[in-house]
Amino acid sequence: MQNKKVFLSGIQPTNIPHIGNYFGAVKNWVKSQESGELSSFYFLADLHAITIRQDPKAFREQILSCYALFLAMGLDAEKSALFVQSHVPEHSELAWILGCYAQFGELSRMTQFKEKTVSYKEGESNIGLFSYPVLQAADILIYQADFVPVGKDQKQHLELARNIAQRFNNAHGETFKLPEPYITQNTAKIMSLSEPLKKMSKSDENANAAVFMLDDKDVVIKKFKRAVTDSEAKVEYRENDETKAGINSLMSIYAAAADKSFDEIQKEFDGRGYGDFKTAVGESVAALLTPIQEEYKKLRTDGEYLEACMRKGAEKASAAARPTLNAAREKIGFLQV
Ligand code: TRP
Repeated sequence: MQNKKVFLSGIQPTNIPHIGNYFGAVKNWVKSQESGELSSFYFLADLHAITIRQDPKAFREQILSCYALFLAMGLDAEKSALFVQSHVPEHSELAWILGCYAQFGELSRMTQFKEKTVSYKEGESNIGLFSYPVLQAADILIYQADFVPVGKDQKQHLELARNIAQRFNNAHGETFKLPEPYITQNTAKIMSLSEPLKKMSKSDENANAAVFMLDDKDVVIKKFKRAVTDSEAKVEYRENDETKAGINSLMSIYAAAADKSFDEIQKEFDGRGYGDFKTAVGESVAALLTPIQEEYKKLRTDGEYLEACMRKGAEKASAAARPTLNAAREKIGFLQV
C-alpha cells in the first residue's frame, strides 16, 4: 500500500457526466482500479462548484446523482477512495494555508479565471473563483499525489500546485510531493457532436453537442444522427485532417463502445453512407449505456447505501490526508494541543 503510486482526480458535480468523460477518463480509472496498481482518490468537487451560485435543492440532488453514476460506471468505494470533497474538511484547511504561499500575481494570470470573469460586472465575481486553483492545489498535495490526469484546461492549475508545493518545501523543508501531469495513452478523443473541432463539454449551450450518460436511447440515436461530419461520405480515420474531425471522433466513440479497431470500422462501412454509420454508433453507445443506467437507477434510490459509500470514502480520504496536513501545521509552527 505504502509504495503504490497515488492517482487522483476530481470532477465538479455540476452536470451529469457525458460519454467523453466516460471514454476519456472514468473507463480508464475503472481499469486502473481493477489492476490494483495504484492508490486512487476520486472525488466530487462540491467546494469548487459553489464558486458559481447553486440552487441548494438541485445541488444536493446533483451530488447524489453524480455519486451514484460514478458507482454505476464501475468505480468502487472499497477499491478506491470515492468521496465528496466537502466531507473531508482537511482540504479546506490546507487550502487556507496554501493560500498564504500563493501569490496574487500568479493567480491573476490563471487563464481560466480570466476567461470566466472577463464578462463579469463589478460584484459578480467572488474570491472563491480567484482562489479556486489554491483549493485545487490542496486537493492534490494533501494526498501526496504522484499523478493527476489533466486536460489542456487544467494543466496550468497543476503547474501552479507544483509551484506552491515547491515554495512551501523551500521555506520549510520537504513536505509535499510535486505531482506530475498524467497523460493517458490510447484514450479516445471525444469531440462536440455539433462542432467537432471543440471538445465535448458538459456546459455546452447546444444540447445536441454532448451525449450524457443518462440520455435515453432515442435521444442518443437522435443526437448521433445529427452529428456534424463532412461531405466526403467516407468512413475513414485521418488523424490530422481537420475536415475529418467529426468522423474521427465518431469512429473513436464507436471503437470504444463496440470494441472495434479503426480498420475493422473502415471495412464495415466501406461504400456505405454516413447514415448507416451514425445509426451504428448510436446503437452501440445506447447498448453500452443501458446497463449503466439500470445500475444507476437502482443505486440512486438507495440513499442509505450511497451515504454509507460516501462515509467510507470520506474516512479513507481523511485518513490519508491527515498526516500531510499535520506535517504542514507542524512545519509552520502551529501548536498541537
Ligand atoms: N478543476 C477541475 C475541473 O473543473 C476539478 C478539480 C478540482 C480537480 N480539484 C481537482 C481535478 C484536483 C484534478 C485534481 O475539471
